[in-house]
Amino acid sequence: LALRQQVGVLKGKHVVISAGGTVEPIDPVRYISNRSSGKMGYALAQAAVEQGAQVTLVSATTTLPDPIGVKTIHIQSAQDLSDQMIAALPEADVMIMAAAVSDYRMGEPATNKLKKQESGQLTLTLVENPDILAQLGAMKEQQYLVGFAAETQNLLTYAQKKLVKKNADMLIANDVSKDQVGFGYDTNQVTILTKNHEPQVLPLQSKLAVAREVMQKISKAIN
Ligand code: CTP
Ligand code: CA
Repeated sequence: LALRQQVGVLKGKHVVISAGGTVEPIDPVRYISNRSSGKMGYALAQAAVEQGAQVTLVSATTTLPDPIGVKTIHIQSAQDLSDQMIAALPEADVMIMAAAVSDYRMGEPATNKLKKQESGQLTLTLVENPDILAQLGAMKEQQYLVGFAAETQNLLTYAQKKLVKKNADMLIANDVSKDQVGFGYDTNQVTILTKNHEPQVLPLQSKLAVAREVMQKISKAIN
């Protein structure tokens, strides 16, 4: 019954979600990526559809099938993701950065496959990627902006700093050093930070259950 009452609360709202891990080329056959499975972002897309939203999913790498009823755009690099999210911003009511964005990329990916070095060592020079959540935070008008924070220590302190620095309205923090939490798992245990409220600690539960609670909280904030 509790669930049925939520149906339709996001009707007329456009929710844009990024998910999965970005891929940064090193050379034509190698890349830099991370352990993101995309499950949390895809669960958010499903929960948003259930609650009646129009949903756009900007997806970096994942093995998951495109969710039904969602416009899914596939991208690879952080720069591609940045371009798509910035393009989507004017038409969005809610933007959620659930993607695990590579903080760095190769300054200049090699055009040919790198050969093994005589020296027994290889040094790659990486440059910082744009911080997409911070870009959206600087550009947004009425849009409700949500970010994640994956930490292994000082969870609330670090997450609170990200909320403020990136001008997000909500930051979903998880301690990925804990078993069953975050990267790759079907479950998650998150703490939700918002600007003017006490942190809300949610129990360890399925990512879909987390996603439904998050979307419900967002719908309350924007309606
Ligand atoms: N993020 C982003 N663009 C980046 C890096 C991160 O949009 N280049 C977003 C993530 O999608 C997430 C939030 O910022 O919503 C926090 O990501 P996280 O990696 O936890 O924080 P960073 O700011 O990258 O700081 P650090 O990795 O040093 O903890
Ligand atoms: Ca990071």
